[in-house]
Amino acid sequence: MTIARGMLISIEGIDGSGKSTLVRHLAKQLQTYDCSVVTTKEPGGSSLGKLLREILQHQPVALMSRAEYLLFAADRAQHMDEVIKPALKSGAVVISDRMADSSLAYQGYGRGEDLAMINTINVWAMQEIKPDLTFYLKIEPEEAIERLKKRTTLTAFEKEQTGFVKRLITGFDEIFRDRDNVITLDGTLSPEEIAESATQAVMQWATARELRGKQGEINGGR
Ligand code: ADP
Ligand code: TYD
Repeated sequence: MTIARGMLISIEGIDGSGKSTLVRHLAKQLQTYDCSVVTTKEPGGSSLGKLLREILQHQPVALMSRAEYLLFAADRAQHMDEVIKPALKSGAVVISDRMADSSLAYQGYGRGEDLAMINTINVWAMQEIKPDLTFYLKIEPEEAIERLKKRTTLTAFEKEQTGFVKRLITGFDEIFRDRDNVITLDGTLSPEEIAESATQAVMQWATARELRGKQGEINGGR
């Protein structure tokens, strides 16, 4: 079985939780099913985003948290038109390293900005397109901090204290609690085990969509 129609997958979690590793492994595994895969990221998936990413990660001027959020939102709006929509239209499985939920966690729970306002702007920036599946990589802050020690340059977010990271985890837990399209993965397992679980979940989701489509045809044909 392959995935013939577009599918949008987001990967979320704190810095160092293993998101980019999962993006790489999952893309590789899905390609073995003959799927066309597009990998991308926020911030920085679009041409504008590459410029914004530099400002957001290194904050050469002090950014007020609302301005910080609106730059992420600008990146997201550009990303949708420039990358996500064309890729979905071409029938690809799109895997994005972070999307709108990162703003709810970082700017909402982390910085204390209004969650409802962030959500409203996110929905508008994304033109009401939502991920079909979200993978939430969960690890303890201490483990993430250990992993990040290997990085030579840290972003403004990676320099934040453990308290900030704990608020992010509380945030992700609360945002995802009542969503039925979120799969929480144990980020302490090996990259191969994590990718295997994610691949199975993607294929199951695609199979269920095919069945729903066929059921629709049968019911429609009655
Ligand atoms: P993120 O994109 O979430 O910041 P990365 O994928 O860059 O995280 O991983 C951060 C660090 O942890 C890297 O050094 C990576 O090799 C390592 N890593 C990633 N996944 C795992 C894992 N499942 N187990 C142990 N180490 C991992
Ligand atoms: P990046 O290097 O992409 O981090 P990572 O590889 O860990 O994902 O830097 C992006 C940083 O921006 C990351 O620390 C999370 C933060 N961020 C937000 O604060 N809000 C957002 O909406 C997004 C998409 C990212």
